[in-house]
Amino acid sequence: MRAIAVLTSGGDGPGLNAVIRAITRQALKRGVDVFGVRWGYQGLVNGEISQLSSRDVGGIMGAGGTFLGTARCPEFKDPKVRRRAIRSMNQRGIEGLIVIGGNGSLTGALALHDMGFPTYGVPASIDNDVGGTDRSVGVDTTLNTILDAIDRIKDTASSHQRAFLIEVMGRNCGYLALASGLAGGAEMILVPERSGPPVEKIAEEVVDAYVRGKRHCIMVIAEGWEPGTQAVADYLAAHKEDLGFDVRVTVLGYVQRGGRPSVFDRLLATRMGAFAADRLIEGDSGNLVALQGRKLVSFPLKEAVAELRPLDLALLDLAETMD
Ligand code: ADP
Ligand code: F6P
Repeated sequence: MRAIAVLTSGGDGPGLNAVIRAITRQALKRGVDVFGVRWGYQGLVNGEISQLSSRDVGGIMGAGGTFLGTARCPEFKDPKVRRRAIRSMNQRGIEGLIVIGGNGSLTGALALHDMGFPTYGVPASIDNDVGGTDRSVGVDTTLNTILDAIDRIKDTASSHQRAFLIEVMGRNCGYLALASGLAGGAEMILVPERSGPPVEKIAEEVVDAYVRGKRHCIMVIAEGWEPGTQAVADYLAAHKEDLGFDVRVTVLGYVQRGGRPSVFDRLLATRMGAFAADRLIEGDSGNLVALQGRKLVSFPLKEAVAELRPLDLALLDLAETMD
């Protein structure tokens, strides 16, 4: 292989720049040219592609976001649009592509592979919902951001004897809520993977925390949990007099996606990027790099995107014991 391309697609997250840097430097070291694609699949289709040198990826390791830019490109589901993307790469002599992103982006990568274009994936999504890998790039930093917020909210919650509902991202996956809630000592964690108690029962738990002499009651709620944070907030507000605690809501939102990547994410990104470059250059296609235990392995994209990475519900039980 003489030239490969790299793009970031879908929701951004910390560590993407470190992956791009690692892919670029590993490929260049092997004598393979590297092209950076702007704005995900959209840029691939529109030909927004330019060659990257080692210097172009210097000094970006610690920066959040992605210097290539990212985008959602719903038209990429259309095979005609994907053919345009492949033409665009062929015209530049690009013989393989590395896609950095979450489930949707990796489904796009699989579609390119199925059309005969050599494509390899790197799992990067704060949701940690990609199958086959213990961790996706970005998750660790995001968890630390959430944990910092929980700790801060706990300070003010204790000072005022309040209950707090903290909503975190994750789309349909409860990993961020579970891991941050457990690490943050939350009194309750609500995730889409387990239907939570009815709101009346949640209210009882708030009362119980008050009766047990707690100074606060922290509930971490995944954005994908039904019936949703607002439904709980409304019920608790309506029963304010019976609860013992006054209630406040914090939706953490996009602060969870930005920021400097942690040491763990930088190391994972660098290892995964270099591994992906090696694999693609050596002819591996239709797979992604996955962290399994301490090892990196090549794992089929088809299986990775077939279903969301399952949540370890035993950890939810553990959180209840610790409450
Ligand atoms: P993420 O990669 O973070 O999960 P999305 O689910 O929004 O983000 O997907 C990102 C992009 O991946 C989409 O905008 C689209 O360009 C591409 N994509 C998603 N699903 C498919 C699919 N079935 N076929 C081809 N491309 C897809
Ligand atoms: O997949 C990452 C993520 O941040 C999810 O946690 C969230 O539901 C979604 O992206 C938000 O997407 P958008 O950037 O389109 O608002």
